[in-house]
Amino acid sequence: MSIHELFSAPAASDVASLKEFYQDDFLIGAAIAPAWMVRPECADALRRHFSSITAENCMKPEVLLNHRATVESGSQTRAVFDIAPMRPVMDFARRNGQKVRFHVLVWHNQTPRWFFAENWSDNPEAPLASAEVMRERLKNAIADEMTTVNAEYPGLVYAWDVVNEAIEPDHNAKDMYRTKSCWYQTLGEEFVPLAFRCARKYQAQGQKLCYNDFNVAQPNKTPWVIKLVEKLHAEGLIDTVGFQTHIGLDYPDFADYEAAIRHFAAMGLTIQSTEMDIRVGGADPLTQMKLAIRYRDYFAMMRRLRREGLPIDSITLWGLADDTSWLMGWKGPSYPLLFDGLMRAKPAYFGAMLDARVPEVSEELNLPDTVEPQVGFDLLPDGKGTISRVAMAYFVQMNVDLNGKTRVIVPYSSVCDGTLTLHLDDVHAEPFAALSLQKADKGATLSFDLPAQSGRHDVIFVISAPAFRFGTILFQ
Ligand code: GLA
Repeated sequence: MSIHELFSAPAASDVASLKEFYQDDFLIGAAIAPAWMVRPECADALRRHFSSITAENCMKPEVLLNHRATVESGSQTRAVFDIAPMRPVMDFARRNGQKVRFHVLVWHNQTPRWFFAENWSDNPEAPLASAEVMRERLKNAIADEMTTVNAEYPGLVYAWDVVNEAIEPDHNAKDMYRTKSCWYQTLGEEFVPLAFRCARKYQAQGQKLCYNDFNVAQPNKTPWVIKLVEKLHAEGLIDTVGFQTHIGLDYPDFADYEAAIRHFAAMGLTIQSTEMDIRVGGADPLTQMKLAIRYRDYFAMMRRLRREGLPIDSITLWGLADDTSWLMGWKGPSYPLLFDGLMRAKPAYFGAMLDARVPEVSEELNLPDTVEPQVGFDLLPDGKGTISRVAMAYFVQMNVDLNGKTRVIVPYSSVCDGTLTLHLDDVHAEPFAALSLQKADKGATLSFDLPAQSGRHDVIFVISAPAFRFGTILFQ
């Protein structure tokens, strides 16, 4: 058996199913965006390999909250949520018999500031609302989101990320809480138990309440996570600790990770690995082999612990394929996942499957010297080394009332060059605009005119660039 076989890049649809491999151990999940599901090879891979899904972004407050409706409602304490953006993900899960991790109810990030401001003001200088008002806003938000989702999708959600990242990431800070968070600034540390108390009221049978954070197994952060979890546990408020597991080749030490799992398990809590990816900057064979070894070591540890009886519920990967990983855009490029941009299995997939061909160590291996077949990218020189470009396109579709609006303004960022075509109503019709995207790490803006049309139309953006990110698209 040759190590080169691990680089043969078989289609995700032709390799053994991850979820079946681990079906007696834990759920295997992926974080996804509705736009990816229109790529048939992505939808196939999601169905084949994953028993749990979550939304990369479309369950977050900034996506679900409706500012205008909230202001118009006249209420000071009940914001208006619309679950429409998450429906494609929920419907997909329901159709395919998958379970859902809901991410996330309470988080300082990706929650608009107006949610914390007096009179829901979107003026960035507006004073924050009083603790009394925020307590009610928090309770109503949790009650409304949980009851709406549970009513429309009974039995689908198995875990709620009730609070995400309440702990200060700077280990030298005095306070263990993230004091700059608007939640902390309005309610102090009590926002955490308050959120869990409220979620307890609305959780349906079989659902677990989770505190989720990154670097849970980093020795200088673990004691703070334990302290917070113990406080919640003393009141019987928490069921699960979410280890985000955004990790690297060298951190954390898996012995620390295992010790943290054992600690929480001994408290009677379950463990979920909620956002796993392993940041690596290289698509080259050596780096990708190291990635495979790291995935193998991780999954082997998790399976060993599970088979020893430790309550590990699920392992969720943060994304589906390298081309759309958030890490592409955050200090990218990065190639952190199991599948490439053409939805083909990378060596990392074989690692996660505990394939015996994955070696113990990466030193002195006779690796293939080409990078081309295994990652699915064309490598383009950019003057500073190489930068990658993905071959596949994906779609974003918006239904817009075009009356009187002819101009579209698209803020974006991208880690490499690519193309964007725009179609009206039919993705197969000739594009009405075809634009080049320049690499724009710090962001850029495109603007162009729509054909003169009125009434409601689907405006479809077809993108061919890894981790191309939109800001808020404006129609003027
Ligand atoms: C955090 C959040 C996730 C996601 C990732 C990066 O871990 O919990 O929702 O935003 O960062 O994309």
